[in-house]
Amino acid sequence: MKNLFSLEADVAVVTGALGKLGSIWIEALLNAGASVFALDLADVKVSENFRKLQTRFDETRLKLDRTDVKDRKSLEVVCSHCLATFGVPTILVNNAGIDRPPASSSKGYRIEDIPFEENRDIFEVNTLGLFLVAQVFGSCMADAGRGSIINIGSLYASVSPDERFYDHIPGDLPFLKPPAYGASKAAVVNLTRYLATHGAPHGVRVNALSPGGVLGGQDEEFKRKFCNRVPMGRMATAEDLHGPLLFLASQASVYVTGTELLVDGGFTAW
Ligand SMILES: NC(=O)c1ccc[n+]([C@@H]2O[C@H](COP(=O)([O-])OP(=O)(O)OC[C@H]3O[C@@H](n4cnc5c(N)ncnc54)[C@H](O)[C@@H]3O)[C@@H](O)[C@H]2O)c1
Repeated sequence: MKNLFSLEADVAVVTGALGKLGSIWIEALLNAGASVFALDLADVKVSENFRKLQTRFDETRLKLDRTDVKDRKSLEVVCSHCLATFGVPTILVNNAGIDRPPASSSKGYRIEDIPFEENRDIFEVNTLGLFLVAQVFGSCMADAGRGSIINIGSLYASVSPDERFYDHIPGDLPFLKPPAYGASKAAVVNLTRYLATHGAPHGVRVNALSPGGVLGGQDEEFKRKFCNRVPMGRMATAEDLHGPLLFLASQASVYVTGTELLVDGGFTAW
């Protein structure tokens, strides 16, 4: 069983490495033996959790580079850096994404006033950027004849956000989760199937991993309402995400491609 989930011979690329979930995926991959080539935007500060990983794993195991997932040229440059540093990537965690969290000071909207640009920006990163990363790193994998791409989706790929989770947030106008968020993630699930069919003849598997709400920084009232809506009665912890990622990344899922693994405590079952 240990060997089935081992990533000792693997090189993993993780986008959005400095965000909340980035270090969760990276820790799981490092603990399983992979080397990790971590990517994030040039102007993003190294997160506390990423810093902790850097103290446990030196640059022979964990390397940070900078890129924008919307910029093909820059992706090709970091792909060549990855090849020179660790060799051909065998795992890609396509995790970079944008949302508009309620904790931000962002103002509320009426649905008819949601700016076009906000929806466009979300689609550009979450869907089109994710596809671009898969094109660049996936073609290296295809040339090498093996690889596992894990596209990070969301429970909101399957259901629309329940705006009552946010109705305690003060303001003249309601907080609305951006409509493009769930739509961009639903598109990710469909692109996953597209990529899977094209990757299969080249030994590249492509799956989506869709987390539910992950604990961290939410206000108490939101947590109470959200958890009440989850059959398992709680939000996801970092540890809840490790196993599903390792399953999709490793030989344990060797005959699994084109699927969406929902890790949501049963949220979408209700
Ligand atoms: N946090 C949750 O509860 C949750 C639940 C379901 C799905 N997700 C998904 O998980 C992924 C990570 O979420 P998170 O909570 O860590 O978000 P986050 O905002 O904390 O991190 C996202 C990271 O992506 C990076 N990024 C944004 N635009 C980029 C670009 N153009 N190029 C390169 N990097 C870019 C950001 O700099 C950031 O470090 C996202 O795709 C998100 O939609 C999160």
